[in-house]
Amino acid sequence: MQRLLPDPGPTTVDEQLEGYRPWEEARGERPLVAVNFAATLDGRATIGGVSGPIGSATDTRMLAGLRTRFDAVMIGAGTMRAERYAEIGRRLIVVESGPLGPVDLPALLQTLGEEGVRALLCEGGPRLHASLQAAGLVDELFLTIAPKLSGGEHAPRIVEGELPAIAELELAWLLEEEGELFARYRRR
Ligand SMILES: NC(=O)c1ccc[n+]([C@@H]2O[C@H](COP(=O)([O-])OP(=O)(O)OC[C@H]3O[C@@H](n4cnc5c(N)ncnc54)[C@H](OP(=O)(O)O)[C@@H]3O)[C@@H](O)[C@H]2O)c1
Repeated sequence: MQRLLPDPGPTTVDEQLEGYRPWEEARGERPLVAVNFAATLDGRATIGGVSGPIGSATDTRMLAGLRTRFDAVMIGAGTMRAERYAEIGRRLIVVESGPLGPVDLPALLQTLGEEGVRALLCEGGPRLHASLQAAGLVDELFLTIAPKLSGGEHAPRIVEGELPAIAELELAWLLEEEGELFARYRRR
């Protein structure tokens, strides 16, 4: 794997993640929130209804490595239904509407912070991502861009929902292996 930005040179998933310490950047009461997605070149977040066929084995290693850097993992109910979430070695929080309607995401993050969660990795899906972005609660975005075109009229993009404003991000790192790009963005 090559690191293209910053400081170009050879690297590995483990080496790259070794110095990544999101728990040191908790946002006061709430954890730092990073979101992870894989997408095709035509901007699709699923192939045949799931994310598995998008990324390579290196992408799987990156996700497994990322999980070790976070205190807990959060997903939406749609992702829970579509993907296999067995033992992931981290506390798993599944967000779904209750009888009172949608979950109050700022309040949920505050509660998680009080419970000692300092860094939270959200693994999607696109609608939970939109809810988090709309509430201004996403600090970082890990995006794997697979060198594939998949088409598909109903395949979602990585954000599916209204945002009150355009979210401006800056590129924190960019890695490459066999044409697949691994980007880490920070909210500006
Ligand atoms: N490419 C990738 O990296 C990637 C990553 C993750 C998922 N995916 C794919 O994305 C697809 C699922 O998409 P999706 O958008 O339906 O998934 P999702 O965001 O995981 O789930 C949507 C559901 O989450 C719940 N939700 C979201 N925000 C909420 C809030 N503020 N309060 C309460 N509940 C909330 C709702 O559940 P209820 O309707 O039950 O209330 C909503 O229907 C799957 O096909 C999966 O494979 C791809």
